[in-house]
Amino acid sequence: MNERRLIIAIDGPAGAGKSTVARHLAAHFGLLNLETGAMYRAFALKALRSGIDPDDAAGLQRLARTTEVALEPTPVGNRVLLDGADVTDLIRDPEVTQAASRVSVHPAIRAWMVDLQREMGKTGGVVMEGRDIGTVVFPDADLKFFLDASPEARSQRRYEQAADPVSIAASTDGMSHAEISRELRERDERDRNRAQSPLRPAPDAIIIDSTSLSLEQVLDQIELVVNEKLARAESVSSLGNT
Ligand code: DC
Repeated sequence: MNERRLIIAIDGPAGAGKSTVARHLAAHFGLLNLETGAMYRAFALKALRSGIDPDDAAGLQRLARTTEVALEPTPVGNRVLLDGADVTDLIRDPEVTQAASRVSVHPAIRAWMVDLQREMGKTGGVVMEGRDIGTVVFPDADLKFFLDASPEARSQRRYEQAADPVSIAASTDGMSHAEISRELRERDERDRNRAQSPLRPAPDAIIIDSTSLSLEQVLDQIELVVNEKLARAESVSSLGNT
């Protein structure tokens, strides 16, 4: 195995820093960064535009049959295509954010997304980020990280990101600190308690609580583990060649 084959799964709740970490890792190791939350967001946008309630399982299933969602990784994040149109800037809206969490509850929608995600990641060389990557999408991923942080730290980060013009995190424009906290709590509750693939660490995931860690400290920990994995794989393959 080398960087080109590696599958790294990063899961965790909203606001734990998954996207930032995944983007840095992808750049550092020359991997593609696939942000699966953006796919649920794009589909939620389509449901909202089509007037279909995000809780209407049958309506969503019908809509999914005529919907195409794709990710195009770029060095600064994923370009998100909905039926061929670029919706990257539209899917961070707070209304879309909540709808994404709601549409992702439905098993048929998850099954569709999981198939697409497996297809996108099957050749390896990817950092895939989401809620169920290590548990469902790629249970055999080479490395799994579960990035967590206290609810207070996560809402504080979201609040600070709102002031950062280059942040790709969910838009929190004009939202108060209390509103951001409530939005995160609501999504946490739904994402962790849904019947189908709830958010939880895979048994073999490395759990990193970043509550009191800087981005650099989190990246140092993860890069160390990835480098060890690559070095081990290298030595096994060179033994095989003798
Ligand atoms: O990571 P994100 O905040 O962009 O994700 C938006 C929503 O999509 C999240 O609240 C739950 C859902 N999601 C999911 O159920 N499974 C994934 N692999 C990724 C996201």
